[in-house]
Amino acid sequence: MGGLRRLEYRGYDSAGVVIDKNNADLAVVKTAGRLDRLAAALELEPLPGNTGIGHTRWATHGRPNDVNAHPHTDCQGKIAVVHNGIIENYQELRERLEAEGHSFRSETDTEVIPHLIEDYYEGDLAAAVRRALQDVRGSYAVAVMHENHPGTIVAARQDSPLIIGLGQGENLLASDIPAVLDYTRDVLVMDDGDVAVLQAGAVSLTDLDGHPRSREPMHVQWDAAMAEKAGYPHFMLKEIHEQPRAIRDTLTGRLASIPVQVAQGATNGHQRLVRLEGVHMGAGELADVHSVQVIACGTAAHAGWVGKHVIEQLARIPVQVEVASEFRYRDPMVDEHTLGVVISQSGETADTLAGLREARRRGSRILAITNVVGSSVAREADDLIYTWAGPEIAVASTKAYVTQLVTLDLLALWMAERLGRLEPAQGLAVAKAIRELPRAVEQALALEPQVQALAQQIRHKEHIFFLGRGLDHALAMEGALKLKEISYIHAEAYAAGELKHGTLALVEEGTPVVALVTQPRLAEKMVSNIREVKARGAYVIVVAPESQELAGQEADAFLPIPETLDLVAPAVAVVPLQLLAYYAAVARGCDVDKPRNLAKSVTVE
Ligand code: G6P
Repeated sequence: MGGLRRLEYRGYDSAGVVIDKNNADLAVVKTAGRLDRLAAALELEPLPGNTGIGHTRWATHGRPNDVNAHPHTDCQGKIAVVHNGIIENYQELRERLEAEGHSFRSETDTEVIPHLIEDYYEGDLAAAVRRALQDVRGSYAVAVMHENHPGTIVAARQDSPLIIGLGQGENLLASDIPAVLDYTRDVLVMDDGDVAVLQAGAVSLTDLDGHPRSREPMHVQWDAAMAEKAGYPHFMLKEIHEQPRAIRDTLTGRLASIPVQVAQGATNGHQRLVRLEGVHMGAGELADVHSVQVIACGTAAHAGWVGKHVIEQLARIPVQVEVASEFRYRDPMVDEHTLGVVISQSGETADTLAGLREARRRGSRILAITNVVGSSVAREADDLIYTWAGPEIAVASTKAYVTQLVTLDLLALWMAERLGRLEPAQGLAVAKAIRELPRAVEQALALEPQVQALAQQIRHKEHIFFLGRGLDHALAMEGALKLKEISYIHAEAYAAGELKHGTLALVEEGTPVVALVTQPRLAEKMVSNIREVKARGAYVIVVAPESQELAGQEADAFLPIPETLDLVAPAVAVVPLQLLAYYAAVARGCDVDKPRNLAKSVTVE
């Protein structure tokens, strides 16, 4: 149950366990709803045993109810299976199995797996699992138990993460590392096509044909406490407050910390300003990059929009940004002169992975920015930059976003420097501003009480607009998403100059409008836009550096952020937006860390 709690971010609309009850028969308990309901059911009916599987579900096929919860069993209840992913040909398999006399209980795609295993079972469970999976098309991480094989779990992976924790006299299986950290730090990351057999004293790996595979375990450095709340009421608030630390970790060893005078020479090629350890692209290969295509989903895509501005401005390479679910099906115009920049906190988002593969198929080199070590995106990329944000548990992404921004700043500097396009003075100014970010973010966090009071004021509102120009528009998208996803207040981001072409009609007396004014070049234009919405009765909240007096004067509420270079300002200005979303959600009694209908890591299409 402890392990399941750590994995609730992956899905939580129903949950279940199967226990090999005193090596006799398999007992299954499953409940719709959150894990607490399963815990309560298990208190009423404790299941003693040494081998078991638990699962939390995020519904794809079939409603989240007791029957559709995992584990699923075969006709005789001898085989139990949990599954993440989607079986694409399940309809056809189900028809075949039903015609053979199998009877199904649930509406899930998963249930075909235990029935297939039942069909192929001739005394060797691993062989039956391998054979069954050869009939399956789609993505899966599965774990299987059979009554005839007490003390054994068979597991397999294809396009859905699965890891094995190597313990002392016990072995563990999970879809992410935090779930096993209470027991071990030695972890085997399973690959696509791996089938594993786990027993208390042994783990073996084969491919789907039964040929042995070998893998080196990795030792996890961070501990379980880092994945817990550390005294905060919610993971999200903890993660917001971790941002200064996270940025420092992102920067470690990457940005030269040299005195300005030395640095003057450094940008002339003696000593580099930026070092990116996992980027192997040579100067010639970089010179051959005609454009950059960012592929990402959700918050990671929003980081990409910020990155576009920064890369274009510093490295003068055109950047397209597209959400991965569109990119993958669009017959995109990318080729060997395009650098695919794939951004993903989890490194497991199904659409993002598919987008990565699509770009690769068309000849693009892939540079990945991800947070999760050993994730699929990390393993498939040519060049790799870890964000080092540490585990992010809240569904709403905060520290992952900020560290993605910082990573993109570093990448832009790196590209500009390698291409000889970095003005030394500009390079130093950006580097200095990046180095000061942790402190600036700390100062922005001091706005917390003010933002909390503001959240009380907006808690009953139905609609909120976020306006900005340039980088502030990119940031507005993230501000609006944060508010929507956890407080369920409808929020929309607009390029401030575009509002009057339709959406301004929605602004009425008291409509909250968050105006972002961090780009001095565009401040006057923003002030005009603020006046436009004020004239229609909007309640204007301005987020801007203190020096933006004019914007501040127009504001009904002013959230002053520390002064910083415009190019890196989104990493600071996002802080009050995250806090606003957080406190609005708390004020409305929402489940902050686990918003309805959403999952942290969307490993299905
Ligand atoms: C889900 C999460 C978002 C996240 C998106 C992309 O929708 O709820 O917070 O931004 O997936 O995830 P990734 O792990 O690829 O960054």
